[in-house]
Amino acid sequence: MKPSVLIKEINEFIGKEVIIKGWVYNKRSSGKIHFLQIRDGSGFIQAIILKGEVSSESFAAAEKVTLESSVEMAGIVREDKRAPDGYELTAKELTIIQLAEEFPIGKKEHGPDFLLNNRHLWLRSKRQWAILRVRNEIIRSLNEYLQKEGFVRVDTPIITPSACEGTTTLFEIDYFGEKAYLSQSGQLYLEAAIGSLGRVYDFGPALRAEKSKTRRHLIEFWMMDAEAAFVDFIGILKVQEEMVYHIIQSVLKNCQKELEILERDTQVLSSIKLPFVRLTYKETIKLLNSLGSDIKIGSDFGNDDETILMNHYKKPVFVTHYPAEVKAFYAKKDPNDGDFALVADLLAPEGYGEVIGGGERESDYDTLIREIQKRNLNVKDYDWYLDLRKYGSVPHSGFGIGLERMVAWICKSPHVRETIPFPRLLGRFRP
Ligand code: 4AD
Ligand code: MG
Repeated sequence: MKPSVLIKEINEFIGKEVIIKGWVYNKRSSGKIHFLQIRDGSGFIQAIILKGEVSSESFAAAEKVTLESSVEMAGIVREDKRAPDGYELTAKELTIIQLAEEFPIGKKEHGPDFLLNNRHLWLRSKRQWAILRVRNEIIRSLNEYLQKEGFVRVDTPIITPSACEGTTTLFEIDYFGEKAYLSQSGQLYLEAAIGSLGRVYDFGPALRAEKSKTRRHLIEFWMMDAEAAFVDFIGILKVQEEMVYHIIQSVLKNCQKELEILERDTQVLSSIKLPFVRLTYKETIKLLNSLGSDIKIGSDFGNDDETILMNHYKKPVFVTHYPAEVKAFYAKKDPNDGDFALVADLLAPEGYGEVIGGGERESDYDTLIREIQKRNLNVKDYDWYLDLRKYGSVPHSGFGIGLERMVAWICKSPHVRETIPFPRLLGRFRP
């Protein structure tokens, strides 16, 4: 009985005959010999089909098979250092499951529009395969870190009655005749859940009607929010940097092949050590001015400012103590200077910019009401949230990490559109 195996475990079958099932990724032929690159989702392998060594049916199948056809192959596993993936299969039998029509994505360069229109097929390319696997490893290691630190996963709703991150990017929906919104972040619900579980996190889609077309903005992105009771501002920065460090180590360890495919300079990642850099907002403004930006105290950083700043650093930087008025109503004021808030953005190096936003939350009932009113939000919409400050309010802090921005940085991808399986962008929601 020939075992049916995954390509990733083929090294356990050297010299044995196995069956693999997958798709033809590449093909090269010269008369009596065909080289097929086969991928099965778990990995890639080259197979050799020699005339005379296989049945005439199998040889004819190899001749006729087209790129992206699905196939089943039996063959003997050989170790070969010269083979693109270290192993080779000497074919014994080849069966075509479905003969593919001419695949629209070829080896030549395609524009982003064409690729995005064909995202359902583009996903099969080696580069996209590698990015999606790094994404998976980031999700896995994020969960691993938070669970180890005692955070309990609490899933927060997608449909909400009020804004978490300001009203300009809200997606409104009709909830049986009532106005409702798609969630921008689960944070407010996590603040409720700490009252039950102490340390919690969520992970799910966040939706923002972003009118800007940048390489960092998606309309639908995945966010992991975490929130912890009795943890102060400095405490939550520590959680964030340890978590990001853990992600980097996990990807370096478990995604070597993927990073190689992506031609990622891993030296940059492996040289990152704890602690990360910490700069206050005011220090950052000074630094930005010296680097050529004309930004003034009081304004939030734009993408360009973040890029200028982060081309300057080799490791992540926390920018802390932003002006309270540019940040959300729930941010706690700095007790030493009430014009500034205990918030931090974690900016990724190599020009990537903000990947995490977080900070300490306001725990005082009256202050919160004032901040909600200052922003022309309706206090009534936040009645349940305000309750949390009436029944055992505690100092607490949290943050939200944008998954796609993290993936973009770790993979050094030029645009977040290739870091999510099916991107939703300004003017695009198909396929
Ligand atoms: O900085 P943001 O807006 O913070 C919050 O939503 C907080 N409520 C999170 C919290 O404290 N629990 O968003 C958090 C992160 C950003 O740092 C960024 O990485 C990502 O979410 N993000 C986006 N990613 C892709 N496309 C967008 N349009 C994004 N908007 C935010
Ligand atoms: Mg932010």
